[in-house]
Amino acid sequence: MPHSLSLWSFTFLLFFLTFFFLPIPTLQTTLISPVSKDKSTNLFTLSAYLKTPLQPTKLFLDLAFLFPWTLCDSKYKSSSYRYVDCDLTFCYYLGFGGPQCSNCTEAGLPDPNCIIENRICGAYPENSVTRVLDFDAALIDTLALPGADVSTKNRLVSLSNYTFSCAHPSLLNGLPKGVTGLASLSRYNLSIPNQISSALSVPNTFAVCFPGSSKSTGVAFFGSRGPYHAFSQNSKIDLSKSLIYTPLLVNPDGYGDTVLSYSGNPPSYEYFINLTSIRINGQNVPINASLLDFRSEGFFHGIGGTKFSSNTPYGHLESSIYKAFTKLFVKEAASSRFNLTASSPAKPFSVCYAAKSVKVTRLGPVVPTIDLELGGKKGVVWRIVGANSMVRVKNKKSKLDLWCLGFVDNGVSGVNNKTSIVIGAKQLEENLMQFDVESNKLGFTSLLNSSLKCDHFNVTDFAKN
Ligand SMILES: *[C@@H]1O[C@H](CO)[C@@H](O)[C@H](O)[C@H]1NC(C)=O
Ligand SMILES: *[C@@H]1O[C@H](CO)[C@@H](O)[C@H](O)[C@H]1NC(C)=O
Ligand SMILES: *[C@@H]1O[C@H](CO)[C@@H](O)[C@H](O)[C@H]1NC(C)=O
Ligand SMILES: *[C@@H]1O[C@H](CO)[C@@H](O)[C@H](O)[C@H]1NC(C)=O
Ligand SMILES: *[C@@H]1O[C@H](CO)[C@@H](O)[C@H](O)[C@H]1NC(C)=O
Ligand SMILES: *[C@@H]1O[C@H](CO)[C@@H](O)[C@H](O)[C@H]1NC(C)=O
Ligand SMILES: *[C@@H]1O[C@H](CO)[C@@H](O)[C@H](O)[C@H]1NC(C)=O
Ligand SMILES: *[C@@H]1O[C@H](CO)[C@@H](O)[C@H](O)[C@H]1NC(C)=O
Ligand SMILES: *[C@@H]1O[C@H](CO)[C@@H](O)[C@H](O)[C@H]1NC(C)=O
Repeated sequence: MPHSLSLWSFTFLLFFLTFFFLPIPTLQTTLISPVSKDKSTNLFTLSAYLKTPLQPTKLFLDLAFLFPWTLCDSKYKSSSYRYVDCDLTFCYYLGFGGPQCSNCTEAGLPDPNCIIENRICGAYPENSVTRVLDFDAALIDTLALPGADVSTKNRLVSLSNYTFSCAHPSLLNGLPKGVTGLASLSRYNLSIPNQISSALSVPNTFAVCFPGSSKSTGVAFFGSRGPYHAFSQNSKIDLSKSLIYTPLLVNPDGYGDTVLSYSGNPPSYEYFINLTSIRINGQNVPINASLLDFRSEGFFHGIGGTKFSSNTPYGHLESSIYKAFTKLFVKEAASSRFNLTASSPAKPFSVCYAAKSVKVTRLGPVVPTIDLELGGKKGVVWRIVGANSMVRVKNKKSKLDLWCLGFVDNGVSGVNNKTSIVIGAKQLEENLMQFDVESNKLGFTSLLNSSLKCDHFNVTDFAKN
């Protein structure tokens, strides 16, 4: 009898374990969101549904700022929004900046239940492009995105406890036209990928394919490491299988990333990689190696290094790197492989070529390739071809038509010019990038090399302006 009892217990335990701890595949959810390029700012937007009833909207896609925010004005119409009651400890714990409470009149929402005595959690949203800071209310409402899996295809998956900051209309200045807020894809616990991960118990991983044209549509996948299906001539290609990987680094000091200083010396919530050298047309750019690592100056740590940024249209290089980089680029472009003679520059760029002298292929302008050598498994290279390095500068009035090297001088390395190498939006175009925050890994693949584009994920933008 004891024997059969223990067998029964064992069976029960097995059943219990299976039921509660094994992942049930049919419940796995990948969310997809259309990603577009804004023509006038050259920055990207992400489409989502917000509020009740669900309303499609575009948000500025930002890899840097900590948490998402949305315009809350008298036109904010939703039957599901709610404030967070003010409790200083809890407001602080939420992570929206300072331990400060607000009142509901402050938020500007047409709330019939708003009485001045109702104190609510405040928040400090920022515009990461203009670096403007605002103070408003923290809010909870619904966010929904289409599911990517066969079982959920075209069905919206919603997060009823999507937590974000309100913002005043002026905070939208400088962002792509038509956006109603900022979609944070940072490492922070309030970012959209983090909130999706906690709400749906899916991996804290997302992938983005940044479109190279404002006429095409890219995609963001949330909550899964793949498959990421692109469609080409009736075949289905899983691009998660083409990714190559490099470690993501955590910059130990987030000072200066935000206008507001966060107490407790938090780390940076941006995405850094271990760039070890740069080659142009196979030739090494001479770089002071200490600029590539994180270093300290007085109280400040985390100066130096290399990060991705989607809030600046072009790359930024520390002054000494910029000089060496442009010098070698000009030299290699002048070689008999390209025969390019630099023309007079056009601000903010310093290296430009007359468009008529530059050949253009599927990989963009034919110019020297730039290879970023990354740490990790030997031989991991992020290759930048003409399509990701050159910017067309055209002015009908002055009959200007140039291709310019899309990097700008970021000044001398220091507390105010923290990051030595910033890879900007131009460099991200037509690349599929997977940010695996849980494993601190970046997977990437350039679509320029294949016959595919970000457009081939066949995502329909439901929030067209
Ligand atoms: C989010 O992270 C911040 C900074 O580490 C922390 O202060 C805050 O309590 C966290 N919030 C939650 C809800 O875990
Ligand atoms: C609402 O909050 C703001 C900022 O905290 C404060 O300046 C203002 O006086 C408050 N309004 C009322 C009516 O309490
Ligand atoms: C949302 O938050 C409320 C209040 O904290 C909680 O009662 C509810 O269960 C949450 N809903 C989901 C779907 O997590
Ligand atoms: C390299 O950069 C570091 C940090 O800015 C600086 O302290 C050092 O003097 C530089 N070395 C050379 C040889 O320029
Ligand atoms: C560049 O010019 C040299 C000398 O005129 C010529 O031999 C070479 O073929 C040219 N290269 C290209 C890519 O046109
Ligand atoms: C960066 O890569 C180099 C070369 O692989 C390695 O020596 C170094 O430890 C790496 N740095 C970090 C911070 O991982
Ligand atoms: C970077 O440094 C230069 C001086 O080298 C300075 O003029 C510039 O304002 C700095 N940029 C920032 C963002 O602080
Ligand atoms: C394209 O593919 C070739 C060969 O596989 C590779 O060497 C090159 O780095 C790739 N270029 C880009 C832009 O990824
Ligand atoms: C994807 O889009 C292309 C071009 O619009 C179309 O030819 C193809 O049938 C679509 N494939 C799927 C599976 O939707």
